Amino acid sequence: MKAYRASLLRFDEDSGAPLFDDDGLLVIGPDANGRAVVRAAGVHGALIGRFPGVAVEDLRGQLIAPGFVDMHIHYPQTDVIGAPAAGLLPWLEQYTFPHESRFHEPAHAREVARFFFDELARNGVTTALTFSTSHPASADAAFEEARARGLRFMTGKVLQDRHSPDGVRDQTEQSLIDTEAGIRRWHGVDRLGYAITPRFAPTSTPAQLRGAGELAAKYSDVWIQSHVAENRDEVRWAMELFPDSRSYLGIYEDFGLLRERAVYAHCIHLSQADRERMAATGAVAAVSPTSNLFLGSGFFDYQAADAAGMRYGLASDVGGGTSFSPFRTMLAAYVVGREGQTKAGLSLTPGQLWWQHTAGAARALGLDGVVGNLQPGCEADFVVLNPRATPLLARKTAQANSLDELLFALIVLGDDRVVSRTVVNGR
Ligand code: GUN
Ligand code: ZN
Repeated sequence: MKAYRASLLRFDEDSGAPLFDDDGLLVIGPDANGRAVVRAAGVHGALIGRFPGVAVEDLRGQLIAPGFVDMHIHYPQTDVIGAPAAGLLPWLEQYTFPHESRFHEPAHAREVARFFFDELARNGVTTALTFSTSHPASADAAFEEARARGLRFMTGKVLQDRHSPDGVRDQTEQSLIDTEAGIRRWHGVDRLGYAITPRFAPTSTPAQLRGAGELAAKYSDVWIQSHVAENRDEVRWAMELFPDSRSYLGIYEDFGLLRERAVYAHCIHLSQADRERMAATGAVAAVSPTSNLFLGSGFFDYQAADAAGMRYGLASDVGGGTSFSPFRTMLAAYVVGREGQTKAGLSLTPGQLWWQHTAGAARALGLDGVVGNLQPGCEADFVVLNPRATPLLARKTAQANSLDELLFALIVLGDDRVVSRTVVNGR
């Protein structure tokens, strides 16, 4: 067992409200299976007597918080960040597909995966639902690297058997064989999970989507990840290709791809009926504000999502997204929440933004109580944050008179410099 004394941020498991202990204690120890979990968390003075003899590392002056959960990111697009293009479809064609075509080479995939996981750690991200490329070797490289680092991590080989250039286009039958082999090889190994990954409806034939839906029914606890309703040209194209479906989201529903643990990036140009279908089926949105701002895709409608009761959380969507940093993503989400705001007050509070990138994201992924929080029983993934990481942050956080003011200073001014340590699986 090991304990840490610092300020401590957690979230109420029911309401999602932030819980803050100025002088807190976090106690980590093995569970019955030998996995490092939170044994206790709360006020130092109230807890310390229960743990005589346990080594306590003194981190007073710093803030311990749950490791961030990124609901949607593309590891093969690490080198695509900041690519200038007119919008989503030209961006895919001109930059993304050419970059992704290199991932049939295992050595290239491994090198990028290593850099990617280093970057996640530097930014305090401890769990990510991640796209690989259409090459099975790309998913294998990411799984191998994540396993070596002890991460809770999900990915899958991308499915795209049409409207894709040579080098990334796969073959219908083989793509489904490879997906099932990936599920059997990786899903549930250590902390890894498989995600069935149709890129988006326009690049899959009906046969490929049907096969993906059959696998999703057969393996009900694997994840599904895709993109939907990101960009108006994309929506129009999807509807031309699937004229019998009720809507773009309806395409996925028609093929059995809306269920719990189905994660759809963007969800911008949805109807209210679509949002209600997401709520009813348990499918969730990965809100990707830096990507949507960079590619000019539009603004996620938080109020409409809440009215429908659909679940969502935050995502970087690197390389459409412009930063690995959860702080950059939370700030962009705040700005997006301001757009179209009709009610008075803050659109999103700092506590809500932080929850959406930790416990809220975990809940949306079906990992409630597993990651994204520091309540007893949660896996021991956390970050140590330095509120004085820059001169301006030191000045600002010293003046914070409330938790909201402290968290907002970190969200607005913070980046990788704030993350002084990232702990995964207790290490
Ligand atoms: N839609 C289909 N593929 C992609 C992708 O790689 N990035 C984004 N942002 N949208 C997509
Ligand atoms: Zn994406």
